[in-house]
Amino acid sequence: MTNSASIGQPLDRVDGPLKVTGRAAYAAEHTFEVPPLTGWIVEATIPAGRIKRIDTKAAENSTGVVAVLTHYNAATQTPFGEPAGEGRFTQSRAMLFDDRIRYHGFPVALVIADTLADARHAAGLIEISYELDDDPVTTAGNDADEMPDELDGGMEPDVVKGDFEHAFNNADVTLDVTYTTPNQAAAAMEPHATIADFDGDQLKVYMSVQLIGPSVKALATTLQFDPDNIQVVSPYIGGGFGSKLGVHNEAVLACLGALHLKRPVKVVQHRRHVFHNAPHRGSSIQHIQLGASREGKLQAIGHESFMPMAKGYEFAEPTGASARTTYRTDALRSTHRVKSVDMPPTDSCRAPGHSIGSLAFESAIDEMAYRCNQDPVDFRLANMPDKDPGTGQPFSSHDLAECLREGAERFGWENREQQPGSLSQGRHLIGYGVASTIRLNMLMPSKTRIRLSADGTLTAWADMTDIGTGTYTILTQIAAETMGLSADQINIELGDSRYPPSSGSGGSFGAASSGSALQNACQAMCIKLLDMAREQGIGDGKSADNARFENGQLIWGDKALTFTELLDNSGQTYLETDGEVAPGDDHDNYSQHSYGAQFVEVHVDRDTGEVRVKRLLGVFSAGRILNRKTARSQLLGGMVWGLSYALLEDLMVDERYGAFMNRDLAEYHLPVNRDMPEIDVYFREDPDPRSNPLGSKGIGELSISGAGAAVANAVYHATGIRIRDFPITLDKLLAHLPE
Ligand code: MOS
Repeated sequence: MTNSASIGQPLDRVDGPLKVTGRAAYAAEHTFEVPPLTGWIVEATIPAGRIKRIDTKAAENSTGVVAVLTHYNAATQTPFGEPAGEGRFTQSRAMLFDDRIRYHGFPVALVIADTLADARHAAGLIEISYELDDDPVTTAGNDADEMPDELDGGMEPDVVKGDFEHAFNNADVTLDVTYTTPNQAAAAMEPHATIADFDGDQLKVYMSVQLIGPSVKALATTLQFDPDNIQVVSPYIGGGFGSKLGVHNEAVLACLGALHLKRPVKVVQHRRHVFHNAPHRGSSIQHIQLGASREGKLQAIGHESFMPMAKGYEFAEPTGASARTTYRTDALRSTHRVKSVDMPPTDSCRAPGHSIGSLAFESAIDEMAYRCNQDPVDFRLANMPDKDPGTGQPFSSHDLAECLREGAERFGWENREQQPGSLSQGRHLIGYGVASTIRLNMLMPSKTRIRLSADGTLTAWADMTDIGTGTYTILTQIAAETMGLSADQINIELGDSRYPPSSGSGGSFGAASSGSALQNACQAMCIKLLDMAREQGIGDGKSADNARFENGQLIWGDKALTFTELLDNSGQTYLETDGEVAPGDDHDNYSQHSYGAQFVEVHVDRDTGEVRVKRLLGVFSAGRILNRKTARSQLLGGMVWGLSYALLEDLMVDERYGAFMNRDLAEYHLPVNRDMPEIDVYFREDPDPRSNPLGSKGIGELSISGAGAAVANAVYHATGIRIRDFPITLDKLLAHLPE
């Protein structure tokens, strides 16, 4: 049966009305009988060193101030980063621990007052003097020479297949180039925010966080609490993109405030706080070496990545991910080196690895296509891999070539001239660009509990989060379709650590993981209902194959009973079942990815160097699509972000202070509607039974991978100028444009 809530239908967000009427409470919006006090974060102004003296007297005496927390009076905590062997999402995230300053913007005090204005005013009255470390490290160049233990996602830092030197040195056509990408911010619409409420021995934390279970553990470790006494609540999140995966600074500070005062304390990071007090994407230097035969067959792929790593915070982005997986090659060498810096932590930022990895790598592949005198689409098609070059594993499915072909046709790629700079219109140079899109597909252990009530409604619980991507909606659809209910009979409860542990949101694994667990629970419910029906003499002896769940009924042979009747007849007020999913052999033994191809038309003003993107078109293959509207929205977001980091985004460092200079949304440039062209998104429905029981694949991080390179490649095609230092701003182009 197909209804408007079936899987794949473009069902409107079920939480949409709550959001547009202001009834969906985000972290900072939860209300209490007594309004929470407000905390303001006071940031260090040196990159590394010690607090010599901190005088908070004037602040304490200032109007409305209730307390000023520093390392002198904050509660006892476990040192930051302990226990050492654990992942970064469950380690201690201690704040105001001692006099040590680890980076510019590091919190040195929390002023807690009746109002935000009082707290912020008092913060200015605090006097601090520092002892600066000798030679703080605030730049990461290609002198990065530390090998990280592992890369994000558990990938190996180095992968070598075949004899790279030999293959590269003997190739007919070679390319040896270095690309750089700057620091970037996720800049989620909702800043990082927390309200902590300490009552008796219970700590209740309303926090904007993507992974709930690990954050309970991290807070328990940090504050030396029993995890059973901590509840984390995160029902609505205004974007995360990785910067809210774990517990971040304001959450620990709010908890310290609540513990100190035994009253609810709210800390919202000011937009300017977010740039230093929430993680960002680190800059990268990517040295790429490609070798190909005269016919354009890739023989050698080399990718060396150099990135910063914040001291004491283990995170290394797998920037080589695209180079390892996208094309066939005889020899592959992919390495990652990091440099310890006295800078704010780098961490996951949408599609860690494939995003900025593809930005450089798909640009270099484009360079190679031109060097081989081949059409960039044809060159890519001629180098499709038959297995994963990096791991040697078979692909669970592979749809990249079809995406490229379909995209080229839809875009009108055949109208393009091979020669760069050959198309123009008035003062505008016109260019077409393409890039392959590929993103890791993951599945994480996830559980759900559901309850079917006698009134025929179904409620599902999981500590899953909806970061704005539509999780409530796709879960509603999965339950509706599996149980034969309508969307308004389904109630999805997420974002609370009291609910069964789920994957949480991250790594594009949320929908697949939480959705499969829910489907599993619904299937168990169907079995329970069939058993119940048998006990009631319905369908007796008949195979369950001809039973259907439709319109809130079990229809079995010539009998139809509503769920309400089934439950009433057996004297039950409700039925509960549990569901779960976990990755198995199909994830161990197959290389799993989502795919796409992106096509771009740009116009470059030959007098000013201004780039205007005229068209963005993407064809994507991400298994079974769960909701065509929310899936499309996510793909649009990634394409916008790709345009953005190709042309605009650059989080600039003042190396003297280790500070980000442009830490607001006026100076950290993002595209606005005026900058965006029409965007076309097409799906190739290609359910992958190895990915999960639903056959879906990750979609949240798919389109950001490749989108930026397609823009950059179009700029090259328009102008014949290859800018290898992102973003491609007009000053960089102008230097090469003819007078
Ligand atoms: Mo993501 S960058 O794992 O939220």
